[in-house]
Amino acid sequence: AQSAKESLYIVSQYAAAFFVKQLWETDEGRGIGLSYFKERGFREDILKKFDVGYSPDVWDAMTQSAINAGHKLEFLEATGLSIKNDNGKIYDRFRGRVMFPIHNFTGRIIGFGGRTLKTDKNVPKYVNSPESEIYHKSNVLYGLFHAKKAIRDLDNCYLAEGYADVLSVHQAGIENVVASSGTSLTVEQIKLIGRFTQNITILFDGDAAGIKASLRGLDMILEEGLNVKIVSFPDGHDPDSYMHHVGAGAFKTYLEENRKDFILYKANVLLKDAGNDPIKRAGIIRDIVESIAKIPDQIKASVFIRECSSLLEIDEHILLGELNKMRSAKL
Ligand code: CTP
Ligand code: MN
Ligand code: MN
Ligand code: MN
Ligand code: MN
Repeated sequence: AQSAKESLYIVSQYAAAFFVKQLWETDEGRGIGLSYFKERGFREDILKKFDVGYSPDVWDAMTQSAINAGHKLEFLEATGLSIKNDNGKIYDRFRGRVMFPIHNFTGRIIGFGGRTLKTDKNVPKYVNSPESEIYHKSNVLYGLFHAKKAIRDLDNCYLAEGYADVLSVHQAGIENVVASSGTSLTVEQIKLIGRFTQNITILFDGDAAGIKASLRGLDMILEEGLNVKIVSFPDGHDPDSYMHHVGAGAFKTYLEENRKDFILYKANVLLKDAGNDPIKRAGIIRDIVESIAKIPDQIKASVFIRECSSLLEIDEHILLGELNKMRSAKL
């Protein structure tokens, strides 16, 4: 007999294949799911590469199909794919949604994100698999299985927020991309990237939430001793929308030409609000030195101090003094 864990992988694989079949081979799937993806500009080869699917808009189509195929309800429930309500009635977690299966880095399916097709604000945009014995959100990066070779070869990992971003960046011919998807970036996720490269380029959404998350993310990355750069997008755009807006070629060029190191990025973001107010500017400089103080490697840190000094026109020795104060305060 196989282990319980193995059984969870098997039902997840079954469900993924079910959703794929629904998307490509049923009228509902093609008419609603596939046309949704097409309208967003996704190519068929990308949809197939990531095994996206469609969950029919009925109560228990997936559960019934799995049970009929001989899978045990116990395991379907343990993955969160099937839910038993208070009356003992079984229903599918994912209904009437386009489905993004989540692979672990060896390529096995461990969970799902399902996006609604409705524009109704009361419907959650994404429903995700719950934590299970095989799915630990904080340890997973969406797209890593499809990206890991390119991350190694190119010695850089693009880090986006969402499922659609990963697909669209691939569609632009860039394969070294993953998403934190549905959690704010965790230390475990950074360490996971660190197994493949020491270089991360953040591609978060160009909205207030994305900018805030990128500032938090870059500090965490620096603290883990990795190198971080940031590409920001015009307000209202994320990598997915921007790729479809400008096209694959221009998108690639944009990434190459707009990659900023964290000092320049932070200075740009923070100085926008400060104008020429000297008190605010001083606060921002301290804020930047605080990020530099997170870098474990002292030589690297001193290089960034020099850059900060020339960028913000502050004496390098004063910045070094601040850096040392912050470092000794941490000890
Ligand atoms: N997310 C989630 N639950 C939500 C909203 C977001 O789990 N209610 C996660 C999803 O993984 C999503 C990511 O956070 O992909 C980024 O969120 P958002 O930018 O709002 O969605 P997009 O990925 O841009 O989705 P889309 O382009 O389909 O609108
Ligand atoms: Mn997105
Ligand atoms: Mn967003
Ligand atoms: Mn987004
Ligand atoms: Mn989006």
